[in-house]
Amino acid sequence: MVDNRKISIIGGGGHIGLPLSVLLFNQGYKVNLVDINKQNLQLIKKGKAPFYEKDIEKHLKKTIQNKRFETSHVLETIKDSKFIFICIGTPISKKLRPDLKKFFNLIISVKKIMNNNSHLIIRSSIAPGTFRKIFKALNKNNTFTNLSYCPERVLQGQSMIELSRIPQIISSYNLKTLKHVKKLFSKLCKTVLVCKPEEAEMAKILSNAYRYMNFSIANQFFQICDQNDLSFEKIRRLMSFNYSRASGLAASGFVGGPCLMKDTMQLNYLAKNKKNLLKLSYEVNENLPKYIVSKIKKIKNYKSKKVCILGKTFKANNDDLRGSKSLDLIRILKKNKIKHEVYEPNLEKKSKKKINSMIDSSHIIVLATPHKEFKKIKISKNKVLIDTSGFFLK
Ligand SMILES: NC(=O)c1ccc[n+]([C@@H]2O[C@H](COP(=O)([O-])OP(=O)(O)OC[C@H]3O[C@@H](n4cnc5c(N)ncnc54)[C@H](O)[C@@H]3O)[C@@H](O)[C@H]2O)c1
Repeated sequence: MVDNRKISIIGGGGHIGLPLSVLLFNQGYKVNLVDINKQNLQLIKKGKAPFYEKDIEKHLKKTIQNKRFETSHVLETIKDSKFIFICIGTPISKKLRPDLKKFFNLIISVKKIMNNNSHLIIRSSIAPGTFRKIFKALNKNNTFTNLSYCPERVLQGQSMIELSRIPQIISSYNLKTLKHVKKLFSKLCKTVLVCKPEEAEMAKILSNAYRYMNFSIANQFFQICDQNDLSFEKIRRLMSFNYSRASGLAASGFVGGPCLMKDTMQLNYLAKNKKNLLKLSYEVNENLPKYIVSKIKKIKNYKSKKVCILGKTFKANNDDLRGSKSLDLIRILKKNKIKHEVYEPNLEKKSKKKINSMIDSSHIIVLATPHKEFKKIKISKNKVLIDTSGFFLK
């Protein structure tokens, strides 16, 4: 028997699954959060978020007091759910190709357990063509078509605010499923956009590739300006002031995280022409830490000097280290035996005295992640400042 109020979120302990679980709970659904990470489940059970997500803990405090919110590491608990979301990662291999073995295996296991009248919703980002493959695998004997693809498009850390504001793209080959899914998402957000699964897949991947490539343009310009002793950020502001044609140009800086590079490379894998902008963007963004080290190596007696790196996480005001370019920078500095120290306010608190002494004892300061805390830091003129994003520009 299917329980019409029950929704299972597989990968519910993750960055995408957890906010979605909480918001569905807020809409009155019975939420079953399924995740293999038992440590994170323990935290969630105590009303604590395993990672930074703005405002989520005040909502989690309500879920722990309510029987409508359950957590489990056992897949069988999805059995009687009307909707089942798949929110697990969709990684790429070291060779930059989609690596979906675990993703496919999970979906096959889910299909064996779930009720055929329930609806399976893929929320993870998938490359164009993946939905059709999954659909074929699940519908081998013409028994199951209740599959939809409804991609997540929020900015990490802002899910609780953005989920209701961003138009939700939904897609399926089955019109009945589409109707049910539309009704569900209409409770979460104002606008629901319906399209074909292939269009939804492409829209999600192109959005991420577009952002990644836009950052690579900025990073390319940053290097050219820097080589000419000019501040790219100052010029970017000059270009875009009351001039809308240049307003879409991103700020420069390290591009990390679990999505942008990964999705751009999923697209590159599909692209027939391998001499394309996607791969060039990858080279520009991925090589920015190397460019910074090459600058450091031009400083006289650089081996006797210490580098202070401000920021370790992949994005500002967040605690997530996934795909962080600051970590790449640290690795290259280590390899080159260049002395360095890192300050990451979102992972360890340091006293003002300690921060000041870190800055004072360093000759070179690299701004890796533009956290708001760094605004208070004063850097004297006798230091070499390498500011990847123009953060310290007044
Ligand atoms: N992070 C973002 O900002 C963002 C935005 C849009 C889309 N996405 C996409 O969403 C997907 C998930 O990303 P994420 O950042 O939430 O990843 P995540 O690693 O934070 O979360 C994935 C969760 O799935 C769990 N998991 C893995 N295998 C499982 C299994 N077999 N059964 C149950 N749980 C399992 C993990 O323990 C983890 O908690 C990816 O496809 C990503 O590209 C992410």
